[in-house]
Amino acid sequence: MHSSLSFDQAPPISVPYRFFLAAPLFGVMAGILLAWSGGESLASRWTPESLALTHLLALGFMLQAMCGALLQFIPVAVGGNVWRPALVANTLQPLLLLATLLLVAGLLFNRPGLSSAAVPLFLLGVGGFVVIVSLSLWQTPATGMTLWTLRAAIGGLALTVLLGALLVEALAQGLAVPVVELTNVHLAWGLGGWALMLLAGVSYYVVPMFQLTRPYLLRFTRWFGPLLLLLLLAWSAQVLPDAAPWSRLAALPLLLLVSAYAGMTLWLQHTRRRKIHDATSIYFRVTMLCMLVFSISGATIVLSPEIGADPRGAVWLGVLAFAGIFVSAISGMMYKIVPFLSWLHLQRLGAPLSAVPNMNRMIAADAMTGQLRLHVLAVVLLLSAVWQPALARLAGLMFAASCAWLGWNLLVAVRRYLAFRDQIRAAASHR
Ligand code: HEM
Repeated sequence: MHSSLSFDQAPPISVPYRFFLAAPLFGVMAGILLAWSGGESLASRWTPESLALTHLLALGFMLQAMCGALLQFIPVAVGGNVWRPALVANTLQPLLLLATLLLVAGLLFNRPGLSSAAVPLFLLGVGGFVVIVSLSLWQTPATGMTLWTLRAAIGGLALTVLLGALLVEALAQGLAVPVVELTNVHLAWGLGGWALMLLAGVSYYVVPMFQLTRPYLLRFTRWFGPLLLLLLLAWSAQVLPDAAPWSRLAALPLLLLVSAYAGMTLWLQHTRRRKIHDATSIYFRVTMLCMLVFSISGATIVLSPEIGADPRGAVWLGVLAFAGIFVSAISGMMYKIVPFLSWLHLQRLGAPLSAVPNMNRMIAADAMTGQLRLHVLAVVLLLSAVWQPALARLAGLMFAASCAWLGWNLLVAVRRYLAFRDQIRAAASHR
């Protein structure tokens, strides 16, 4: 494996796994919610169902998986010493789960009291996570753009949650704030400053390692994160009086930057010497293609006021961003991380190498590709349902089924890990 990975400080395996196993459940809930509510829910970005679906995926699926991945990635890849990861996971995960369910219920049933109850839980849960992870990211002696990008992503998460909290209070108490502009800024930091920043930082590291590509161009990694931050700041100026028209101009360069990252990743995949077509590589290709379609659609909406006036345009972008880009990237990543961690932890039990099963035996390749195909079908159906509402229920069911299958594949891997672990321990006690 990678020469600079360090496993001395790796957290117990239960830390990432408990987050990874929770994430697909929220995807299932999102699919069922769509199947239950039908096509009307996708009529605009402001329907209660749209807002609830958004946060089931943003906070249930994405935040859970990304917190689990970070608690594992920081010690192993950038040598950061996370303070008592098991305690952090045991305390913060329930807080985040409860907060997510409260916020989703508040948005869905139009009960501002429930959303308000979620705010202190988020401030505590995400606040605690941000402080602990920041300490480890600032104390590590490591350097490089992955580290820089991870630090920026944590800042993006903090800002997103603060803006979300402000939005909840503004809506609950009728504060005089520009809600639409504030929501635009909140979602840009959530999707760009947090999720995309983290994806980029992690992929500088894991794409060459797991997909056997050349490294990202150094010039690209030096510019991508800082430029993304600058453009997000320019976009955020729309909350200031009189700044709205010019700040929205930042949308086009932002979309160009997003497509540069997608193009660069596709190019790296295309030019690698050994062509591997495992589920992770294909999931990444799906992610990057959706990112390109997102950028082209976003630019069309910005440049053509007629198309931009259709409320379904924003929903189309939302489906691409959540189901097409981030659920795909995270699923692909989990299919690599889970077998790898299982193999690693088994190996560390001190068994002879021959007793440790190969990574390919943790999740069957057919199960991963089958799930991937169902996910792609679900994304296509979801995108079609934006324009053909009659398809929404079917799309919701397919999405729920593909997330359930993802969860099942991960669960099988965890159970295999436990079975192999017990075998190795039993063999050791007989020696
Ligand atoms: C951290 C990841 C998050 C992401 C990626 C995210 C993303 C989004 C997106 C995309 C929207 C716009 C939805 C639409 O246009 O249909 C939105 C709206 C909203 N978000 Fe979040 N969000 C996050 C966290 C939060 C948190 C933690 C809270 C509350 C504490 C929150 C509260 C809200 C509220 C209240 C709205 C709707 C405002 C309205 O109805 O005008 N968000 N969010």
